[in-house]
This record gives sequence, structure tokens and C-alpha cells, in this order.
Amino acid sequence: MPASPTVPDLTGIDLETRYQVARELAQEAAQMGLRHYAQRDGLEVEHKGDDRQDVVSAVDRQLEALIRDRLAQHFPEDGFVGEESGHSRLDARCVWVVDPIDGTACFVNGLHAWCVSVGMMIDGVPALGVIADPNHDELFHGCIGRGAFVNDTPLRASQATDISHGPVGVGTFHPQGQEPFLPFLQKLLEGGGMFMRNGSGALTTAYVAAGRLLGYYETHLKSWDCMAGLVLLTEAGGQYNDFLRGEGLLEGNPFLAAAPGVYAQLAAMIGPSLDRD
Ligand code: IPD
Ligand code: CA
Ligand code: CA
Repeated sequence: MPASPTVPDLTGIDLETRYQVARELAQEAAQMGLRHYAQRDGLEVEHKGDDRQDVVSAVDRQLEALIRDRLAQHFPEDGFVGEESGHSRLDARCVWVVDPIDGTACFVNGLHAWCVSVGMMIDGVPALGVIADPNHDELFHGCIGRGAFVNDTPLRASQATDISHGPVGVGTFHPQGQEPFLPFLQKLLEGGGMFMRNGSGALTTAYVAAGRLLGYYETHLKSWDCMAGLVLLTEAGGQYNDFLRGEGLLEGNPFLAAAPGVYAQLAAMIGPSLDRD
């Protein structure tokens, strides 16, 4: 079953200022990232744990510090979850969920599929999302009840009714949950579908909201990869699974986002592992 997010009580919350600050900040961080990207040859890259594919650079940390500190200046009462620096004040009504560079492997290898992703929840409900892609001059942004946009163009999920009508984004992660990946790909191909992996979960989620992809399945995703995208999806008429259940906010879960006409078809291809923590 797709998640059906409730509308939080917005009384006493200055959503407009948060939306504006989030857009400006994501764009500023993305432009800073772009300057480093142009000179990435000397960039030192570290591997997280034993996974040679899971990389982080000083730029990831620098951008997260910029975003975290600026949000704390503007909204000291808000909580924060960041990929690189952990979390604080999770009991606050507004909690920001940030990936300073989503698509770091792309960034360090000179592939343009990376972005800055800034999401925010109100009372546990995804409420505001901004994804800045400086390589393509695209700013995806949305706010609960106010629609979602790429730059000034409204986003709308695909109206497709069968997975054979277009491509689906996919992803998997070495340390966790790879097993359902190949069986899913096989069913997708057998059903006349096609797959794409670009290396950024945030952008892939935004592309589902934009109707560019019919869906996106990742065997295990983290909340900072998709929090901003969840808002875009809801506002664009897309659907996603109960991704934030259990320890989803800090530990992640399997993730499915899709256009409403193909959600059930994709969920059936994944099977029960979609609902397993
Ligand atoms: C990764 C990207 C990738 C997804 C991985 C994520 P990172 O984030 O979103 O598309 O497949 O699961 O970890 O490490 O580039 O921030
Ligand atoms: Ca990420
Ligand atoms: Ca990241």
C-alpha cells in the first residue's frame, strides 16, 4: 500500500520563510559545489567503511556544515538530520533532513548527476523539499499543499498505466539489501519495462515527480536521499511506500516511488521485501 501522508497542523509555523531560506540555501550550496566540481582533480576521496563504492569528500562535509549552520541561525528551534554530521533535536516540530551532495560517486568521477537535497518534515510528515541540480540549472522545489515545480514549471507524475510505457529508475547499495534487486530487474524486463540508474536517489525521485520516469525502486535508501523528493512526489500526484516506518528516518528502508497508475504493478514485482525493515 502506498503511504497516505496526513496534512500536519501548520499553526505557529512560518512555512513561507523556511521555504524561501531552503531554496536560497540549496542554490548557494549547489553553486559552491559546482566550483569545487570544476576543480575536482585534486579532491581527496574517502571510502565509508569497507564499501569501495560509498565515497565522501571534503566538499560533502563543507556543504553540510554551511547548510546546517545557516539553518540553525535562522531556525534555532528546528531539528536536523544530515548524512555527514548526524542528528539533533529530533523531537522538534520541524526537522530538516539534508544530503549536501547526493550522487557523490558521480561528483568525484565527473558525472553530472549530483545535487543538493534539503527536505523538512513537520510532525513527522514530509512538508518541504528542495533539490538543486546546478549542472542542468534545475531547481526542484515543493511545499505541502502548494504544489511542486522545476524552476517555474509545475511537476506532474506520469499518467502511464503500464510499466511498458516508459523507464523506471533503480538503485541498490552494497552493504544492505541487494538480494531483491536482480529478481526485480528480471520481472521488470519480462513485463516490457526498462531501467535507468543515474547515481542520485534525490534526482531520480524528482524525475518521478516530474513524469520523466514512471517509478523508482531502490533496495535500501536513506531518508536524506529522498526526503525532499517525497514532498515533490505527493504534490505532483505520485505515490511512495511507507518508507518512514520504524527506524526509516535514521536507518532508511526499501523505497518505491511511482506514478499512481503503475505503483501496484511495481510493488507486486518487488514483493514482500518492500515492507521489510
Ligand atoms: C547515494 C545515491 C545513489 C543511491 C545510494 C545513495 P550518496 O547517495 O543516492 O543513487 O543508489 O543508495 O547512498 O552517497 O551519493 O549521497
Ligand atoms: Ca545520498
Ligand atoms: Ca551524500
